[in-house]
Amino acid sequence: MTRHRTQVGIVGAGPAGLFLGHLLHLEGIDSIVIESRSQEYVVERVRAGVLEQGTVDLMTQTGLGDRLRREGIRHGGVYLAFLGRRHRIDFEELTGGRAITIYGQNEVVKDLIAARNATGRPLYYSAEQVSIADFDGSHPRIRFQCADEQHEIACDFIAGCDGSHGVCRPSIPADRVCVYERDYPFGWLGILAKAAPSSGELVYALHERGFALFSMRSAGVTRLYLQCAPDEDIGRWNDDAIWSELETRLGMLDGWRPNRGDVVQKGVTGMRSVVVEPMRHGALFLAGDAAHIVPPTGAKGLNLAVADVRALAIALAAHYRQNRRDLLDQYSDQRLRSVWRAQRFSWWMTSMLHRAPGGNPFDYRRQIAELEYVTSSRAAMTSLAENYVGTAFE
Ligand code: APR
Ligand code: PHB
Repeated sequence: MTRHRTQVGIVGAGPAGLFLGHLLHLEGIDSIVIESRSQEYVVERVRAGVLEQGTVDLMTQTGLGDRLRREGIRHGGVYLAFLGRRHRIDFEELTGGRAITIYGQNEVVKDLIAARNATGRPLYYSAEQVSIADFDGSHPRIRFQCADEQHEIACDFIAGCDGSHGVCRPSIPADRVCVYERDYPFGWLGILAKAAPSSGELVYALHERGFALFSMRSAGVTRLYLQCAPDEDIGRWNDDAIWSELETRLGMLDGWRPNRGDVVQKGVTGMRSVVVEPMRHGALFLAGDAAHIVPPTGAKGLNLAVADVRALAIALAAHYRQNRRDLLDQYSDQRLRSVWRAQRFSWWMTSMLHRAPGGNPFDYRRQIAELEYVTSSRAAMTSLAENYVGTAFE
């Protein structure tokens, strides 16, 4: 058995865990990161790609801005499309110059791993049988196995950054935690294609046949999604069928449609809303998807995860530097306010833009009326814009 000692033991090397390790390092706080998957898996996993200004600012201020500045694509608005027409929501004009930046989550993860490696602080990949113990007392422990060797980490705090299928949240006694949950009766079939984006900005579309989203990663890579069944069998969809359905749902009366290209990745994701309350149990702090999941329609997941760990790093720094406990005590309530605000927005965007299976024609008409309102009333557009460009950090 190898015994380690650190200040903060971090479970999970997604954006939440890696960013926390980075912020703690800058505060001179020691950490060990444990990840159950391989480095390749963590980096290659295709996820979200929309950064709020707060995430961009934090990356820039903490020395992670170089590649982001070169390769990130600033978008001053998005389109909402329905009845064959696109309507632009001008974020910059409506929010006093705020915007979003397109930069893949896996690029963020690559930058964070490079920063971690440069510090020489430990990050264990392919950890097995990860468990946490004694986080209610004063001797929290993380145990895991790596390359057939047993490890035990003694730490002051445990950061549960292990996503929606991790071990940290299930380790909290069930009677001490409240999980609010909502499943949606649909999923997204997503593809990544080698095709030049035919629109400079994202297009969120409601069609009679369901939702579709046009997004991108770079000047040569388009990311597209189709509403599908939550348990859709991807094997039933060949590339031609996917493109044809995308063209039906995204094709506009003015002739706009996505460019086709080679499909380099495809997959189906279900959609859920989850909030775990509270986000702290003794010395265990949950952050990111371990504490909350949002449906992807508002692009909030990554930004919420980054905002969580920023608040946690500030609170831990106040603890170690000034012996203050107040920020650690406030962490859960403070983050939950922002999490619920993002939940409301993501739920609203999702409900406005998807067709419930077997849905009633009344609902579709009502959704069209809502989209007409949102794209014509300045008050309604401003509400969408201010929530889209940033709530995670508030
Ligand atoms: N032990 C160690 N690591 C674990 C364990 C475990 N038992 N279980 C899961 N992990 C790892 C996962 O392999 C993953 O790399 O924890 C990491 C969690 O990362 P994410 O799922 O990316 O979650 P988070 O860092 O909170 O980032 C949230 O990811 O799902 C998207 O939309 C979401 O963009 C948001 C972001
Ligand atoms: C993406 O580019 O992957 C993306 C964009 C916007 C969303 C969700 C995902 O709302």
